[in-house]
Amino acid sequence: MGRYRIGVATGAWLFSGSHNRVQLWLVGARGEARLELRLRPARGQEEEFERDVPKDLGPLQFVKLRKHHSLVDDAWFCDCITVRGPGACEEATFFPCYRWVQGQDVLSLPEGTARLAGDNALDVFQKHREKELKERRRLYCWATWKEGLPRTIAAERQDDLPPNSRFHEEKRLDFEWALKAGALETVLKRVYTLLSSWSRLEDFDQIFWGQKSDLAERVHRCWRDDELFGYQFLNGANPMVLRRSASLPSRLVLPSGTEALGAQLERELQSGSLFEADFSLLDGIPANVIRGEKQYLAAPLVMLQMRPEGKLLPVVIQIQPPSPSCPAPPLFLPSDPPLAWLLAKIWVRNSDFQVHQLQYHLLSTHLVAEVIAVATMRCLPGLHPVFKLLIPHIRYTLEINTRARSQLISEGGIFDKAVSTGGGGHVHLLRRAMAQLTYRSLCPPDDLAARGLLGIPSALYAHDALRLWEIIARYVQGIVRLFYHRDDVVRGDPELQAWCREITEVGLCQAQDRG
Ligand SMILES: [Fe+2]
Repeated sequence: MGRYRIGVATGAWLFSGSHNRVQLWLVGARGEARLELRLRPARGQEEEFERDVPKDLGPLQFVKLRKHHSLVDDAWFCDCITVRGPGACEEATFFPCYRWVQGQDVLSLPEGTARLAGDNALDVFQKHREKELKERRRLYCWATWKEGLPRTIAAERQDDLPPNSRFHEEKRLDFEWALKAGALETVLKRVYTLLSSWSRLEDFDQIFWGQKSDLAERVHRCWRDDELFGYQFLNGANPMVLRRSASLPSRLVLPSGTEALGAQLERELQSGSLFEADFSLLDGIPANVIRGEKQYLAAPLVMLQMRPEGKLLPVVIQIQPPSPSCPAPPLFLPSDPPLAWLLAKIWVRNSDFQVHQLQYHLLSTHLVAEVIAVATMRCLPGLHPVFKLLIPHIRYTLEINTRARSQLISEGGIFDKAVSTGGGGHVHLLRRAMAQLTYRSLCPPDDLAARGLLGIPSALYAHDALRLWEIIARYVQGIVRLFYHRDDVVRGDPELQAWCREITEVGLCQAQDRG
């Protein structure tokens, strides 16, 4: 009995109409009370209400919500409900929501403290988590986008996604404006250069305007230098391919007359300063045809040396691996005519772009994250501590990936229109990359150790990645150890076990033997 203070945090409104009346039930261990609230249609704000309840509710277990609905679709995104009381009791009880409240349904929010599944079927929270998972398994279904690739959410386009996985208005506008601005800049540059043909490298300056960063200016000044070329393997957009050589790569065939090069590579190998970037994954991938024009793909190998002061410099580039028709492919050296050497480096950068975007960005980042997102929605109830840890990080994963599948890597999408791996080569490449995917390759300490990149002062990406990993690991372990103090607790958590199986066996298509 007494007065309750109820805080309502609103994330968004779909339509700010006048029908913002909400029914709210406080459900305690000894009884429940129904209240009426009238919300102001404001975003990102918390409103407080005071209400008297004439009976003793006992400790609060749930808050239930129903929004009065009108003819227009005026859904309300509720972030969280906070309840203080009864009376002078200052301790707040939190009921996280972070979902749309719409339609006639009553949404049931359990008190937010994380807890593992119990074995008491009569427990109110146990019943709630089973009901919640049943509903989520109906909403979040698996689909196969392409055989041999991670499974995805079943949604043809973003409108098919469950409403709670959609971009909010701000995110959607931000994303769509960025796309439009990029497209506009490209079109303007095309118009600007329509009447001129390029005959010198300096002609690239004609399109070097618009959105620029300090880094872009720096790269513009020194993109032809070997020093920047080597630096990019350590600290550029794709620092994932470089590895310290353990032996001379078998694909590197040194023809007679290159004995001095062979001796130099052997010396660097012995002193541990020989590195390689091998793009064999691209070998044999069919290239795109764009507006009737055949495109080309290389599958290069770059050998690099680490200087004592930390500079990484290219020593030799082989554009294609040996083949029956060409058992000793040509080698390009820094001593070659400047444009020939530059062109070899440009082919390497082109290959690096394909592998970066498809293997490391699309597959290891987006598609793996989607598997974890779908498995999390299907297997972990909102009360599960691992759900609470992950949910902020997978918030927009499903929509961004669904947009990518319908606009970027789809048939006739941006890859088909503009990228040399488009037109099917990209799917081919993704399948090869998927076959190599291991759990350890996704963990920076293991990945960097396997590539021999630990303890190199000029490997700035490696240092930053390890520091961030350490910070994240400390936080995650701190939370996880609160619940799983022994291995048998992990084994005995049916929800967690189902989640792991769903990720490895279903989402990643029988990857349980990949660590
Ligand atoms: Fe991305």
